[in-house]
Amino acid sequence: MKKFVTLILALALTLSLAACGGNNASPSGSASSAGSDAASSGEAGFTTAVDGVLSMATEATFPPYEYYDGDAIVGIDVEIAQAIADKLGLELQVTDIAFDSIIPGVQSGKYDLGLAGMTVTDERLEQVNFSDSYATGVQVVIVKEGGKVTSVDDLFADGASNVIGTQTGTTGFLYATWDIQDAGLGEVKSFAKTTDAVEALKNGQVDCVILDNEPAKALVAANEGAGLSILDTEYAVEDYAAAISKDNTALLEAINGALKELIADGTVQSILDKYIGK
Ligand code: ARG
Repeated sequence: MKKFVTLILALALTLSLAACGGNNASPSGSASSAGSDAASSGEAGFTTAVDGVLSMATEATFPPYEYYDGDAIVGIDVEIAQAIADKLGLELQVTDIAFDSIIPGVQSGKYDLGLAGMTVTDERLEQVNFSDSYATGVQVVIVKEGGKVTSVDDLFADGASNVIGTQTGTTGFLYATWDIQDAGLGEVKSFAKTTDAVEALKNGQVDCVILDNEPAKALVAANEGAGLSILDTEYAVEDYAAAISKDNTALLEAINGALKELIADGTVQSILDKYIGK
């Protein structure tokens, strides 16, 4: 459990990364005219993959940040991205892909930003830039009634051999790999979707699932009657931010400028409050 703490500290350092952010390019209200250069370098000072469009990559099994309501992807991240797009005069387009494809997709320039309850980590900072943080998350452990794991200490006890469910490519996966699997205390199974990890817990394929707290709460609530619960001990506080290509610092500045306004005027908080009851 102690090792989690080291990681948290590393994460905390990343908060101040934001580039100088002064130049807020937001052409408020310049609703991208059909013209070809709506979002290109000219007027706005930044470029996007497709002119006039802010293209967001996410992985939508992560309520309340991103999830399906019928065919539509909704949630905190979608609303924040929409508010940013509005400020920048862009049309938002959201694409649901595997979580571990988001950073490569942003790096290659296919997507303008990755917004997916994504934690700022040192490893990811080598691959992409992160915007200012707009929310925090906490890693928690979901267990099943009558199962082997009843406390976080059970995961680290001498001779422990638990199977830990995680989502592929997430910080939960990394923690479980480093601190449990590499320490000889069990095995990590990773799943493309958080919902698949939770199914595996329900049918006994894994002994617990390590996941961010709000999605954990939402998924436990969505599986009422399945005997799932969240252990009390929280062990890693993380900052969520948007991932943006290192090649597009003008877009990073524009997004940070918009985000600063949306934080200052209470928009971000009201979006969080709408989805996260207190
Ligand atoms: N915060 C964790 C991470 O960055 C999990 C994020 C998973 N997000 C998602 N949309 N599935 O690794």
